[in-house]
Amino acid sequence: MANSATGDSVLERVVRVLETFTVDRTTQTASDIGRRAHLPSSTAHRVVNELVAAGLLERDDDNRVHLGMRLWELALRGSPALRLRQAALPHMERVQARVREHTQLAVLEHDSALFLERLSHPQAGANITRIAGRLPLHASSSGLVLLAYADPELQERILAGPRRALTRETVTDAAALRRLLADIRRRGHVVAPGSIETVSTGVAVPVRDASGDVVAALSVVLPRETAPDEAIAALVRAARGIRSDLSSPPASH
Ligand code: PHB
Repeated sequence: MANSATGDSVLERVVRVLETFTVDRTTQTASDIGRRAHLPSSTAHRVVNELVAAGLLERDDDNRVHLGMRLWELALRGSPALRLRQAALPHMERVQARVREHTQLAVLEHDSALFLERLSHPQAGANITRIAGRLPLHASSSGLVLLAYADPELQERILAGPRRALTRETVTDAAALRRLLADIRRRGHVVAPGSIETVSTGVAVPVRDASGDVVAALSVVLPRETAPDEAIAALVRAARGIRSDLSSPPASH
């Protein structure tokens, strides 16, 4: 790729532009993007125009841009995450019908839990997870499960810190976190009261593929006063069902 005067390639600049979009910042002007991506304004406008022409960004009537449907289409095509989500959805709906709170599916991605799906109930309590949003591994129930079964190298990196406390109950002490991870592997689930927000309890289990590798975490977010037993049983059943469905060949339609 051709390099600019500052030495970064076209591709690097494109990635920097796309990465200025977050779950909370979904539309921006080209000038905002330039500032956030540390690009000269003229470069930002040119890259944005080219991305709009390619359909990877879309422009609205106010001349602001958002990520394009074409990007979504390409990202999902043949993605293992999509297959996982499709296998999980019917089982998540069953958990949902039983527990009537929020049910989430998350995978390990770049040192955090990335949420592929979230089902909610009209009367469900608080929940900060968003589809395509991330939560820290040490602070969320999904993240703790993913961390408990992750490569030792990743575990040690997270245990080495730093780890931010999101509430007074977030486990940040390395020895306590190590014990918690061992406990998750022994029990096959985690109950994390108040770890990410004081009013909720996250409950999560590992989801395994046909060969037994942990590929995701399935979780529910309960109001703090709700006992977790029914949710644990529903999640364990769902994780077994997902594993069994992942073992059958993917449907071609
Ligand atoms: C959790 O997974 O522990 C969790 C997630 C979102 C919340 C609360 C807890 O809002």
